[in-house]
Amino acid sequence: MSQPVAITDGIYWVGAVDWNIRYFHGPAFSTHRGTTYNAYLIVDDKTALVDTVYEPFKEELIAKLKQIKDPVKLDYLVVNHTESDHAGAFPAIMELCPDAHVLCTQRAFDSLKAHYSHIDFNYTIVKTGTSVSLGKRSLTFIEAPMLHWPDSMFTYVPEEALLLPNDAFGQHIATSVRFDDQVDAGLIMDEAAKYYANILMPFSNLITKKLDEIQKINLAIKTIAPSHGIIWRKDPGRIIEAYARWAEGQGKAKAVIAYDTMWLSTEKMAHALMDGLVAGGCEVKLFKLSVSDRNDVIKEILDARAVLVGSPTINNDILPVVSPLLDDLVGLRPKNKVGLAFGAYGWGGGAQKILEERLKAAKIELIAEPGPTVQWVPRGEDLQRCYELGRKIAARIAD
Ligand code: FEO
Repeated sequence: MSQPVAITDGIYWVGAVDWNIRYFHGPAFSTHRGTTYNAYLIVDDKTALVDTVYEPFKEELIAKLKQIKDPVKLDYLVVNHTESDHAGAFPAIMELCPDAHVLCTQRAFDSLKAHYSHIDFNYTIVKTGTSVSLGKRSLTFIEAPMLHWPDSMFTYVPEEALLLPNDAFGQHIATSVRFDDQVDAGLIMDEAAKYYANILMPFSNLITKKLDEIQKINLAIKTIAPSHGIIWRKDPGRIIEAYARWAEGQGKAKAVIAYDTMWLSTEKMAHALMDGLVAGGCEVKLFKLSVSDRNDVIKEILDARAVLVGSPTINNDILPVVSPLLDDLVGLRPKNKVGLAFGAYGWGGGAQKILEERLKAAKIELIAEPGPTVQWVPRGEDLQRCYELGRKIAARIAD
């Protein structure tokens, strides 16, 4: 079992590391590198636990609390967010410390009562600006609706310039160490980008507003301790800057080509498009969807300016393996992307129109409509058109 880790004097990580989880939110999100459920204990004149862990890890949390102080006495339990990965051990903690006073938003309270109607607990509804003294340190709350649920809030410890933002700034990555200076920086940013792209992207406008709000009140931030993954103590500005970029939909001269193929005709078109994009100076990531992880594809779309999706026609429809990516894009609403649909058909078509409708539903601007469609097999002139379209897209998304 992992051990408690001091973040600073009297403030401890007391969470759990889930090395083996490979899907999160049911089957919605692949977690190749596992995750952590981070909870934080603040020991002062009064003692506060900020968030709990997923229910199967409740004994780990309790064991860590006992390692710091046994018997465990909590004056406050802060519930930043009531999703089960953070509030799943709420009943166990309330059983351990029935006198703990719960601090949460109104919506979090409503959600706690809905999840745990059998538990009576003392509570205070907090709002942005509410402050609670623990002695030498205090807790200030910042409501953060839709980061990641309507109930969410950040907890801030001003005396330590420590932000506990729950899901925001997190990453699904299991590690034996807790801080950003102990893990490869590229790996952390890769997982942070995947987390943002697949979970937070639809809330980008709210994230921009929240970052502006934090900047306006001049919130000093020395450390960001999210509820998943590593703690940003070396360079918290790095993840704040990345969130600002991602939330604004800033991309680079990069295209993602996501496709699948039956008899290689659509694949040949994908490669011709790629050749044109590359010749135009564009970075390209190409994914055959039946052998690719959808969440990894979405991560690559986050900082791309173009999304090209290809499918042949089958039963007057697109290949079933292409649908989930489009379904996700419609829900995630990526910003500032241009797109193109392409593909081959045999006796009858249909896929092209469906691809184009789905891309438009995802608010992706089509650069050509209809995009390249060929019957049976692409001939030289068809591949040349794909190549030229690739060049055209590269020119459009160039820096
Ligand atoms: Fe990590 Fe929205 O829960």
